[in-house]
Amino acid sequence: MDDGRSRPWGGKLIAKSRMLRRTLLRRARTPVLQIMPSANCQLLIYNRVVPVAMPPATQSEPAIEYRKDEFVLSTDRERLHLDVINGFLTECYWAKGISREIVARSIENSLCFGIYDRNQQVGFARVISDFATYAYIADVFVLDTYRGRGLGKWLMQCIMQHPRLQGLRRWSLVTDDAHGLYAKSGFTAPKWPEVYMERYDEDIYQRLDSHQQARSPEITK
Ligand SMILES: CC(C)(COP(=O)(O)OP(=O)(O)OC[C@H]1O[C@@H](n2cnc3c(N)ncnc32)[C@H](O)[C@@H]1OP(=O)(O)O)[C@@H](O)C(=O)NCCC(=O)NCCS
Repeated sequence: MDDGRSRPWGGKLIAKSRMLRRTLLRRARTPVLQIMPSANCQLLIYNRVVPVAMPPATQSEPAIEYRKDEFVLSTDRERLHLDVINGFLTECYWAKGISREIVARSIENSLCFGIYDRNQQVGFARVISDFATYAYIADVFVLDTYRGRGLGKWLMQCIMQHPRLQGLRRWSLVTDDAHGLYAKSGFTAPKWPEVYMERYDEDIYQRLDSHQQARSPEITK
């Protein structure tokens, strides 16, 4: 019988392939169905990655809650008040005219942070991220009557501390005049502005809105 000892290279190969066969047989006997937490739409089955239909991470993860005085900050999407968020955004300078449907879709696909005074929503922000390398902060606001009480700073601190947003290489945001607020969380003007590019469609919400109204003239705002 050739056990491979007389031919060292061949022997090693035979031993390796036997080991591999034993490993594969052992795995085949042990059903392993493991959800990979970092790759949401995939299952690991016998070391083969198989795409399956699963909700995005931002929808399936448990909500986190923080407390400060009488206020609660929560990442629970179910608690968000679309009327409050849309009511603010559709009037603000950066999203003027945005429709309720687009706001709802943006919430659906973001990690959202709501601030509540009892059940009343008084603040909001959302983060668009791959949860590995990059995050973009958008739609930050605190309702007028609650401003100047530290809620904006707290909101930013909670965002920056969120466990799924750690170790990212780059964060970004756009602001007209709140640079001082974001500077407190480490934001600066871009180090190399010349490397940034963007494609910006300033009137998109107005165009979409008039298009929709043309198709449904009975809908009035
Ligand atoms: C910006 C905003 C979220 C701040 O919320 P807030 O609860 O009033 O903020 P805080 O009480 O935590 O204080 C904010 C800090 O940032 C500073 N700051 C810098 N620029 C600011 C700005 N444009 N507006 C408010 N605060 C600003 C404040 O001076 C304060 O610093 P201080 O504590 O050293 O005085 C709130 O004013 C708001 O919703 N504004 C309208 C929407 C908006 O502009 N959002 C930002 C879009 S990028």
